[in-house]
This record gives sequence, C-alpha cells and structure tokens, in this order.
Amino acid sequence: MSTGAYAAAHQRSLADPAGFWGDAAAGIEWLTEPPTVLDDSHPPFYRWFRGGTLNTCFNALDRHVRDGRGDQAALVHDSPVTGTSRTFTYAELLERVATFAGALASLGVGKGDRVIVYMPMVPEAVVAMLACARLGAIHSVVFGGFAPAELAARIEDAEPKVIVSASCGIEPSRVVEYKPMLDGALDRSGHKPEAVVVLQREQAPAAVGVRDTEWEEMTWDELVADAEPADCVEVEATDPLYILYTSGTTGRPKGIVRDNGGHAVALRWSMENVYGIGPGDVWFTASDVGWVVGHSYIVYGPLLTGATTVLYEGKPVGTPDAGAFWRVISTYRCRAMFTAPTAYRAIKREDPRGELTKGYDLTCLDAVFLAGERLDPDTYEWATGVLGVPVVDNWWQTETGWPIVANLRGLDPMPIKAGSPSVPVPGYDVRVLDDQGAEVPAGTEGAIAIRLPLPPGTLPTLWGDDDRYVAGYLSVYDGYYLTGDGGRFDEDGYLYVMGRTDDVLNVAGHRLSTGSIEAALAGHPDVAECAVIGVADEMKGQVPRGLVVLKGSVDAAADGGRITAELVQRVRDEVGAVASLRQVDVVAALPKTRSGKILRKTMRELADGKTPKVPGTIEDASVLDALAPVLRPGG
Ligand code: COA
Ligand code: AMP
Repeated sequence: MSTGAYAAAHQRSLADPAGFWGDAAAGIEWLTEPPTVLDDSHPPFYRWFRGGTLNTCFNALDRHVRDGRGDQAALVHDSPVTGTSRTFTYAELLERVATFAGALASLGVGKGDRVIVYMPMVPEAVVAMLACARLGAIHSVVFGGFAPAELAARIEDAEPKVIVSASCGIEPSRVVEYKPMLDGALDRSGHKPEAVVVLQREQAPAAVGVRDTEWEEMTWDELVADAEPADCVEVEATDPLYILYTSGTTGRPKGIVRDNGGHAVALRWSMENVYGIGPGDVWFTASDVGWVVGHSYIVYGPLLTGATTVLYEGKPVGTPDAGAFWRVISTYRCRAMFTAPTAYRAIKREDPRGELTKGYDLTCLDAVFLAGERLDPDTYEWATGVLGVPVVDNWWQTETGWPIVANLRGLDPMPIKAGSPSVPVPGYDVRVLDDQGAEVPAGTEGAIAIRLPLPPGTLPTLWGDDDRYVAGYLSVYDGYYLTGDGGRFDEDGYLYVMGRTDDVLNVAGHRLSTGSIEAALAGHPDVAECAVIGVADEMKGQVPRGLVVLKGSVDAAADGGRITAELVQRVRDEVGAVASLRQVDVVAALPKTRSGKILRKTMRELADGKTPKVPGTIEDASVLDALAPVLRPGG
C-alpha cells in the first residue's frame, strides 16, 4: 500500500474532513464562501458547506467563458446512429443553456421546481440539465430505455412542473418513439405536469399538442423561439441540484438527492485526483445521461473542470463495428475514456485480437476507466493488452455519485491488481463487517459499509423520504452507510467487490430492480406468483430470469408457451427492453421460508451452478429439488 500522497490524503480526509474538503472547496467559485464545511449537528444526517451559496451552471459554463475558455470545445456530440458530429464551444453551450433556462422560466420553472428530462443522448439533454441548474430547479433525468410504468413511478414521486422529452431515440435496430411512452406514463401517473416540451427529431417526429390534455404541449423549437436568456440563480450549497432514481429491491425506485455545493466540490476534486483530467483535456464517457455515470462524468465532472466532454450516441459494437470507441478516441484526441466493462466484453467478443485498434491513432490515450459492474480479470487483461494503457477499475454507486474505491491516477497512481478497484478514495472510511457489525480481518468476506459521515457529493437523503433513507441504508449497522455490496480487503488494503448482497440486478451495467420486473410479470392475468432472479451472463454480467406459477384454472401444458412469450413482452412494455428478460419458466411452486419469503438467493446459486446454502427455515425443501433441473445451467 502506498505510503505517499495517497495515504497522507486519505488519512487527512478522515482525521480532518473539514480541513480536507475546505481546501477542495477552493476549486469552486462561491457566491458566499461556506461558513461551515461539515454540519454534523443532526446525525445520521450530515450536510456539507451549509451556508455557502453558488450556482452549479455558473461553475460549469459561465466561469470558463469569463476566464477565456469561450472558444474551447465544451461538448462534442458524436452520433454514429444519425451519421452526425457537432461541437459546441463553451460560449455556444452557455448561450444555448441560458436561452433554454429562459424558456423554462417562461413556463414558470424556478428554484426548487422539478423538471423531468426523458431524452436520448442528444446535446439538448445536457442543455436541459444545465438550464435547470441555472435556475436552481431540480432535474430528474429518466433513462430513455425505461418504459411507461418506470417513467410514471418517477413522475409521481418527483411531481415535475415540466417534462422535457424528445420525439425519439435511435437504437441500431430501430427508432424508439418516446412520445407514446411519455403519453402512456402520463396517463398512468396521478401527477400531471403543467407543460411538456418535445424536441423533434427528423427520424420520427412526434404528434405534439394534438391530444386533449390538461397540460400544455409544445416543441422545443416553439418554446425557445422567443425566449430571453436567463441569468444564474443563487442557491444554497445544500439545495438539491438533481434527483436521480435508482433501483432498490422493491419496485418503488429510490430518489437519490444530490446537493449543489458538495457535488460541485467532489466532482471537481475527483476529475483531477481520481481520473487525472484537468482543464482543456478531452474526456470521453460512453454511458447514458440517464445513469449516474452520465450525470457525473459526461456532464458535470468534465464541465466543472473546464475539460471537453464527448457525448456519444451509439454503441460499442454495431455502430458500425467494434472499432467505434477507437474512432472516437482518435478523432477527438481523447486523453481518457470511461465506460462499463460490459461494453469492453462486447468489443472483445467481436474483435478478440483488437485488430480494429490498428486503424486508429490512439497515442493520445493515457488511461481507460471502467465502472458500473465488476471488472472481471479476463476483460481487464484483454483491454490492457489491446490498448497498452492502464485500465482502471473504480467502484461506486448512484448513491455516492463518485468513486468510493479507485486507483487515484491524478493523486498517486498505485499498482493495479486484476479483480480489485484498488483502495478507498479520500473521504471514504470503508470497512468490511460481519453480521454483528464487527470488522472482519483482511481476506475475509463481509458486507461493505462506510463509516459516517459520507464525503461531499454523496446522497444527503432520499427525495421526500428521510425515513426510507435511514431504514434502507443506515439502520443495519449503527454509524455506517450500508453499500449493499459484499467483498473483502487484502493485506495491502485493496478492496475486492464481489457483488450485491441484496436482490438488485446489474444487467450490462444497468441497475434494475427485481421488484419492477416481478410487478410486470405479476400483472399478467394468468400469473398466481412469480420471482425474478439475476443469473450470471458472460456478456452482460447478469441477466434476469423469471419463474412463474400459473393460476390453478390455467392449463400450463396447453398455454405455457403463449403465456411465457406474453410475459417477456410485458416486461419490455412495462420496464423496458433494457431489462433483457428473455427466459421465463413456468414452475409448480416457488421455494419459500416458513414466513413466506421467496428464496431468491438460493435459486440464484442453483442457476449459477453453485451448491446453494439452503436455509433451515425453508418451508418445503422438495420445491427446491423440483426446481433444480429447471434452474441449473443447461437446464
Ligand atoms: N432506449 C431504448 N431502448 C434501449 C436503450 C435506450 N436508451 N438502451 C438499450 N435499449 C434496448 C436495446 O435496443 C435492446 O433492445 P432489444 O432487446 O430489442 O435488442 C435492449 O434494450 C437491451 O439493450 P442492451 O443492454 O444495451 O443490450 P444490447 O445487447 O443491445 O447491447 C451492449 C449490449 C454491451 C453493447 C450494451 O449493453 C452497452 O453498450 N452497454 C454499456 C453499458 C453502459 O453504458 N452502462 C451504463 C453505466 S456505466
Ligand atoms: P449504480 O448505482 O447503477 O452505479 O450501480 C451500483 C452497483 O453496481 C454497485 O452497488 C455494485 O454492485 C455495482 N458496481 C459498480 N461499479 C462496480 C465495480 N467497479 N466493481 C464491482 N461492482 C460495481
């Protein structure tokens, strides 16, 4: 383990958090310097930089234009699915954001109002996010791959004044019309917005304003036509910047709240210290603005830093080939890229020897960062061999907004060990605990927890639900935040993250809830009971499998095939194709404990070819025996 800059920074961040983060706060321009760094007067609720005021959009755009970066590229939109590429300088992006902020203000959007952004990977998605930040409004971006039921749940919880959407997204195989999905979500939602704004795309323009609705509908162009640019609104450091919903085990998504001050400080610090990226560097994150990686490292991190960010509307393979990332890196001279391991596994499958790298000049590339799911050693070795640069794993979650464990390329690069994202990042006091909350020795697996307080930029609570925040994260181990992941430290202080200890699914780096998929299955009229489990998948890391018990009146032998096909379609329609549910099996019964809890973990172990630990509380062990042939690989 390093005894150098990393160790000193990590120790100081825990021993003197106010000093450490007070220094980091100098990376941000404040309207009122924060009089306190850490407010720990109401544990387990901690707030950073209380009393400080700022504007996040000012720090991401205006400040750089004022300081001479107006002509530097801020955002490059590279879109192989439309065959276009556009660059926006900081001055141009500022002009668009200020205008759209004015347009939103004309709809009555102001400080504290929520705006849902349901858009594909177009520059206007970034413009809409920053325009909200400019007004002190709270954006909530919903991933474009989510279907109406998921979108409706988020609309009901966030209660947006305005929804900004686009007519369509473009998948390699098809054009995905967004407006019918938005209409479907609004029909289901008890909350209705005051206005819906739709960006028309030529691939599939939408019918806007033709339905008889209680809200106004207009196109993006109509709205901005007469808009006056809006100025930045001063907000408190502790005011929310955004809500990002993430999946828990139940079907009800959790609204992760991100504040303005702590977020700006943490992201600015992480760009330089974790990723080694500074002002003027070009940085490419292949994710989606609907996920936390997109929020932090497509939008806010690079722009707060004065770097250039590449917004890529395409896939790692198939748009048009497995050399797509290498083309982007060489075209825009990217210093580093960030994506999920699954994307590299997809490239490896198509181009195992990395032949396609040879057509591109990748000398600009210093490092590749991978996160969102476990980086398996095979993929790590392959990427390192093909690219010849450090391939750096980093472990974090929507809740934290930036890395918990990483190899700090900017602060103090350390040796990389395959299978480990390396060491706790300054600010995070990471511990591995046993069931009783005692720390386990190095080499022993347990629950990964973080001692409170969490550092700046992490969630202060869940939107409108302090109790759920405490119950879901802080109540298992007193004084700790429970990550939901299991793992172990080695003797050198490197953490190995082994996967979720709960029923949260991670499918191709996308976090999904078993509960939502189960709700979609349970809604079928012939289903009596169901369970969804995540099983290992070579490419996507994990994929869901459905198990259903049909109602007694249904003839499974005659109708089973039709019903399972309908169930697969239901999940596509309700949750989204991104759930990647392809296999549903009709079974006679589901294994349960005597108190009625379905034994998902036991089924998952069977499906992954392991010998399951069968709990003594199982109600009827013969149910599990009957399931084994269905669940076991190849079964
Ligand atoms: N809008 C609408 N549909 C979407 C979508 C979106 N934004 N994103 C994905 N989908 C659809 C896909 O078209 C696909 O539909 P299909 O079943 O009809 O083919 C389905 O959802 C599953 O998509 P995906 O998980 O992307 O699988 P894939 O087989 O099409 O592609 C990868 C596999 C590895 C190329 C892809 O998962 C990928 O690029 N992953 C990167 C992960 C990532 O960025 N994670 C974010 C966290 S860092
Ligand atoms: P999300 O909130 O969508 O970012 O998903 C967070 C979850 O993804 C974590 O709790 C982990 O289970 C998993 N995850 C993210 N990054 C990593 C990583 N580098 N290694 C292992 N698991 C990861």
